[in-house]
Amino acid sequence: MGQGRGSGVSKAQAQNAEAPELRIRPAEAADLGQVIAIDAGVTGIEKTDYWYELFHRYGGGRTRQRLFLVAESGDVIQGFIIGEIRDWEFGSAPCGWVFGLSVRADARLAGVGTRMLEAICDGFRHGGVNKVRTLLARDNSLVLSFFRSQGMMAAQFIPLEMDLDRL
Ligand SMILES: CC(C)(COP(=O)(O)OP(=O)(O)OC[C@H]1O[C@@H](n2cnc3c(N)ncnc32)[C@H](O)[C@@H]1OP(=O)(O)O)[C@@H](O)C(=O)NCCC(=O)NCCS
Repeated sequence: MGQGRGSGVSKAQAQNAEAPELRIRPAEAADLGQVIAIDAGVTGIEKTDYWYELFHRYGGGRTRQRLFLVAESGDVIQGFIIGEIRDWEFGSAPCGWVFGLSVRADARLAGVGTRMLEAICDGFRHGGVNKVRTLLARDNSLVLSFFRSQGMMAAQFIPLEMDLDRL
């Protein structure tokens, strides 16, 4: 007889107990293949050059200002988050900006995004700031729900844009 009712351990609990621990750490070059695949799964575009360039500037835990973190479980990268501390830009005191965040589709709703945001906010605090900001597409209700769930609110800024070939 297997683990049926009354054994006291559900299948989900048993799987969870077997799942390798989730670790949030600075991205390494060897992670880029998985990061590129996660991003391509979300955006539909495989931007290999972009990611290598980004890693060059943000990866490896080189500076306190720039953070490129991954969530790793065993040898699987479950998600990534990228941000930086910008000093006195947009007319504001130095603050942390999150500008990239994705969790592998089959790893969502398990707290991975929350753990990564906590980790990058710890990094921002360590870098001496006490505010975090982000920018997202107006129609991305998933990402909006996530950030709202973390306590983020509408900010005192509006984004502006124009087409450069209009003149
Ligand atoms: C947004 C995202 C990072 C969330 O990651 P996650 O690991 O699933 O998030 P968590 O499990 O930590 O969720 C925390 C909270 O966010 C909210 N949330 C997450 N997914 C949600 C969904 N599908 N619908 C509504 N609320 C959701 C919930 O309040 C959730 O708390 P709960 O589980 O207690 O209800 C992930 O869905 C993702 O990568 N989406 C695609 C991101 C994207 O579009 N990137 C490109 C532009 S930056």
